[in-house]
Amino acid sequence: MSDQVYLLYGKTGWLGGKLTTLLREQGKTVHLADSRLENRESVLKELETIKPTHVLNAAGVTGRPNVDWCESHRPETIRANVIGTLNLADLCSSKSIHCTIYATGCIYEYDAEHTIGGKGFLESDAPNFKASFYSDTKGMVENMLRVFPNVCVLRVRMPISDDLSPRNFVTKIVKYDKVVNIPNSMTVLTDLLPVSLAMADKKLEGVYNFCNPGAISHNEILDMYKEYIDPSYTYTNFTVEEQDKILVAGRSNNTLDVSKMVNALPEMEIKEIHVAMQGVFKRMKENLTAEGIIPDKLPKRS
Ligand SMILES: NC(=O)c1ccc[n+]([C@@H]2O[C@H](COP(=O)([O-])OP(=O)(O)OC[C@H]3O[C@@H](n4cnc5c(N)ncnc54)[C@H](OP(=O)(O)O)[C@@H]3O)[C@@H](O)[C@H]2O)c1
Repeated sequence: MSDQVYLLYGKTGWLGGKLTTLLREQGKTVHLADSRLENRESVLKELETIKPTHVLNAAGVTGRPNVDWCESHRPETIRANVIGTLNLADLCSSKSIHCTIYATGCIYEYDAEHTIGGKGFLESDAPNFKASFYSDTKGMVENMLRVFPNVCVLRVRMPISDDLSPRNFVTKIVKYDKVVNIPNSMTVLTDLLPVSLAMADKKLEGVYNFCNPGAISHNEILDMYKEYIDPSYTYTNFTVEEQDKILVAGRSNNTLDVSKMVNALPEMEIKEIHVAMQGVFKRMKENLTAEGIIPDKLPKRS
């Protein structure tokens, strides 16, 4: 029996739920945190009561229905994502508890040095995407988190699951009236959540781009959706400038270089994103067929 004890923040969240299931499947001891991140004394008490060897932080505000919410809820965003995240990192670090933070890679946008199809952003590159309060503050916090020993920051991007959860990037773009078409780094959760637990096991520290290698475009994903899930599905593209007119905050588009993560885990095979997406759609088709959702109950545009 492992002497590892996990304490998970974000028990009611999308990633948090998946991590809880995975930890239990792996036979790990997992406790679900009750404290709110900004309540430092409660977090400290919980750490001292549970005495975890590992903390996983999948808590934070992402906004509902989307990150535009953060533009008009700036104090709430700071409270959870800045004050709360720093509280937890500081307390874990001072108690020598390994802390994995599920953060975001949406802190960059393509630029002259990092073009579509060109070199990806490294963990050492300064954030250059400020067009969203959520992303801007995540970038600031990441820079502060670098100071703390025992803290591992994982830059998640456009997470993808094997179902039609409304949080799944696939579901989101399937339901849009119009969609941009830009290659991006993405995080296939079935592949990468186990990778994060392996990284925690090794007590890796610092910042990691946490995506499948490569980049995939919106149209490539929608074409696969049509091939595997709904042959009757059609989509219409529009430009980023047209998209900007219907959004409050800007959206980040970038490719992250994942060599640091891949090199840290030579024993793990981390699939290239196009290969990974074939796996996603095969599993999705099986899941949706078993649930009776294919062919009649597939999501329609709202
Ligand atoms: N989903 C995405 O598209 C995406 C993309 C990139 C990165 N990420 C990152 O991954 C992390 C998890 O995302 P998710 O999609 O799983 O989020 P989610 O479904 O919105 O879940 C967020 C979780 O955080 C908890 N929480 C919020 N504020 C809290 C606070 N102050 N103290 C303690 N718990 C708090 C929520 O609990 P309550 O419901 O009780 O408030 C909930 O359990 C986020 O930090 C996000 O930045 C997500």
